[in-house]
Amino acid sequence: MSGACKGSIGIFDSGYGGLTILRQIRQYLPEYDYVYLGDNARAPYGPRSFEVIYSYTLQAVEALFNRGCRLVILACNTASAKALRTIQENDLPRWDDGRRVLGVIRPTVEAIGALTHTRHVGLLATPGTVGSGSYEMELRKLYGDIVLTSVACPMWVALVEYGEYDSPGADYFIQKRIETIMRKDPEVDTLILGCTHFPLLIEKIAKYTPTGVRLVPQGDYVAKSLARYLAKHEAMRNNCTKGGTCTYLTTENSETFAATAQIFLRKPLENVEKIEL
Ligand code: DGL
Repeated sequence: MSGACKGSIGIFDSGYGGLTILRQIRQYLPEYDYVYLGDNARAPYGPRSFEVIYSYTLQAVEALFNRGCRLVILACNTASAKALRTIQENDLPRWDDGRRVLGVIRPTVEAIGALTHTRHVGLLATPGTVGSGSYEMELRKLYGDIVLTSVACPMWVALVEYGEYDSPGADYFIQKRIETIMRKDPEVDTLILGCTHFPLLIEKIAKYTPTGVRLVPQGDYVAKSLARYLAKHEAMRNNCTKGGTCTYLTTENSETFAATAQIFLRKPLENVEKIEL
């Protein structure tokens, strides 16, 4: 499993959420080629066990590597929290040719220090991400003075995956979780949207968030961090092809994916292919 081929940058998520990261990355780095993979058939990952999330994520990363990607971004907090470290430590060495897998948690945490004034930060994420304690761990390394309060939002990914993100029913689930986190720590002034699906719900989230509390979607920080990474790593930069294209892969029906993804990307998609993992 080696070979110094060049390839597109792989972007992986359990479903549609990673499109919010892809959109920002393509804004910052439009010259590269991308392959987006959504494991829509098996989303949501959030409530699943460590073993299952790790095994699904590894399958996705290997599928992207087999398509020539040298660099894969886990545009999914749940996969970043539950699978990234194990893949980096146990699986990447098998490929042994300088391939890399990066996540979304570290770039988000790096940005938080400059955003909060009260040093009380809230995390809204999937049960998997909250249960993993990954945000606490990363925050402790960088900003020991920040107090983190986390609330799992088990329904929110499903609202996006099943096209209910805009429905009146979504309001109930969103309001409930925002009220819970603000009740748990009224000093919170910064709310991390620690799931890449959540920016797709941002209008409703903003509607129930108290004035003065800042919402932090991740796309911008992940994109800037990737730009810095590529600027620093010349070999990787040279191994990523530059044609400005994007191919989309889904484990579900390709027409459904194209129709839904185009709402989120605000433009029609070409090159959608269904694959098995
Ligand atoms: N977008 C994924 C995340 O950032 C959602 C995970 C899921 O499928 O539950 O966590």
